[in-house]
Amino acid sequence: MSTYSILVFVHVLGGVGVYVALGIEAVALGGLRRAETPGDAGVWLRLHAVPRRLGPAAMITALASGAWMMATAWGRQPWILGAFLGMVGMAIAGGGVTGRAMRRLRAALAGESGTALSSAFRDARGSAALTASLRVRIAIGLGILALMTVKPEAAGSGVILAAAVVAGLAAGIPRDARRTRLAGTGAGA
Ligand code: HEM
Repeated sequence: MSTYSILVFVHVLGGVGVYVALGIEAVALGGLRRAETPGDAGVWLRLHAVPRRLGPAAMITALASGAWMMATAWGRQPWILGAFLGMVGMAIAGGGVTGRAMRRLRAALAGESGTALSSAFRDARGSAALTASLRVRIAIGLGILALMTVKPEAAGSGVILAAAVVAGLAAGIPRDARRTRLAGTGAGA
């Protein structure tokens, strides 16, 4: 058992942590959107606190161990640069979009006094930005996994990362807007 094989283990563990965090976030967001009472919403918002800690910790673990493997064995590689750029994109969407929206939701929930959730809270929890941010990060995460296992050259790395971002953004477009758009192009007929 070499130091390097332990590094690969720690790295893949970090990677698995990123996907587990995305999975918990998806469950918490789904539950939050079905909640009827402030109490229920509170339960799902507390669950959502888990990926808020696990996600960054897992990303830092994958990044640090990955950088170490790059420094000791691989040197600069397009698929590593692609993964790094992908992780920056995930951090911006996760911290900038989701983090901010969830902070607002927690503050709004503190103001909920009725037995049922207000329409203002229901509107805020349904924000398309929350869905788009989650789906873009899932798509980029899958793109990074492809980069890590296929290890393509520069052109291939660029195509994989771009395709992941486009797929994530497309999946993030609200269904109604997507249906209207498709109908507009006659593709939905
Ligand atoms: C979410 C982010 C990431 C995930 C999920 C991930 C996942 C993986 C996986 C599953 C492997 C094993 C592939 C194989 O054995 O064929 C791997 C290998 C590797 N990763 Fe990542 N990775 C991520 C980010 C990064 C970053 C940011 C770097 C560099 C800064 C990096 C550097 C490496 C290197 C050098 C290897 C090759 C290890 C070997 O020698 O087999 N990874 N990664």
